[in-house]
Amino acid sequence: MKKNIQIAVIPGDGIGPEVLKEGLKVLSKVKPQLSSEFNFVEYDLGAKNYLKTKEAMAESVFKQIQNSDAIYLGAVGDPKVPPGILEREILLKLRFELDLYINLRPCMLFDGVFTPLKNKKPQDINFMVVRENTESLYTGLGGIFKQGTPQEIAIQEDINTRFGVERCIRYAFDLCQKRKKENKLTLVDKANVLTFAHSLWRRTFEEVGQEYPAIKRNAIYVDAAAMDFVRRPEIFDTIVTNNIFGDILTDLGAIISGGLGLAASANMNASKKNQGCSGLFEPIHGSAPDIVGKGLANPLAAILAGKMMLEFFAENKAAKAIEEAISKAIQSKRIFKPESSETQISTSEIGDLVCEFL
Ligand code: IPM
Ligand code: MG
Repeated sequence: MKKNIQIAVIPGDGIGPEVLKEGLKVLSKVKPQLSSEFNFVEYDLGAKNYLKTKEAMAESVFKQIQNSDAIYLGAVGDPKVPPGILEREILLKLRFELDLYINLRPCMLFDGVFTPLKNKKPQDINFMVVRENTESLYTGLGGIFKQGTPQEIAIQEDINTRFGVERCIRYAFDLCQKRKKENKLTLVDKANVLTFAHSLWRRTFEEVGQEYPAIKRNAIYVDAAAMDFVRRPEIFDTIVTNNIFGDILTDLGAIISGGLGLAASANMNASKKNQGCSGLFEPIHGSAPDIVGKGLANPLAAILAGKMMLEFFAENKAAKAIEEAISKAIQSKRIFKPESSETQISTSEIGDLVCEFL
């Protein structure tokens, strides 16, 4: 009998529902190739629900989601809700409370996709960013004192624990080894200024690195890394970095790989894999309220997030098939305008085209 896998679907706000619909279309198309039975349960979370109930995610809903095996999420965030509420109480709550400590973000230029970098080819832009996903400036620790006065003080703590840093770095070494690209892991930090926090990162990187003699290590500052993403992205194989730098760098990584319309990510608890809810798969892009309902959103990022979800459950054959179908759909030259990352067919037509090549 096939194993049952329960997926909590959170379409969310803005273009989230539009792109996720295409992701689900593609996942249902590969159903015959799957060794497990995937069941999808949709949760209506986001601005509309928040404005109606004054609660971003009821505890009972969180419990149900926690009892599923993974989450497939579109986007959260809406101009009708003050910034931070939906992000913190839905997306970040899920990342933190489910302890999804790895945020894996591939930066990979598909053949036939436009990159704004001159003379860079698919073989030049092909690296993985491992972003620590439960610490750094994202914990929400801190506070405001004397608010609204000229003496106001705002403190936002940068949390780095040996435990959190080590498990992230260890995952990155393992991944780098599995990738078999150049066996090179780059730590991106700001050890020249954040002399406490990033001393911990550097020491941990060196110590864990001793266990991986075949992996070359180098450590660079985040400002230099930003420059090299543009100047010579070919030097990267696998990158490991903290939460905030990973957030910023992967938007840059997305744009050099053909735009946010193609960038997907996997939030994972790599140690409790396949026990309880241990993965959240989402496009990197936001809810893009300005283009909602126009069919302009590119669903490839959401489709690729679905592909990463299949990989997480070791459905490698179907995952590969999706990647190949996307690649062929791109090469058919029907998706993008020439020399541009703007699409020329609608969101649902892109989903259909990928299905056609499956
Ligand atoms: C991302 C997003 C989120 C983040 C926001 C929506 C909280 O930018 O996944 O990169 O900062 O992590
Ligand atoms: Mg981001």
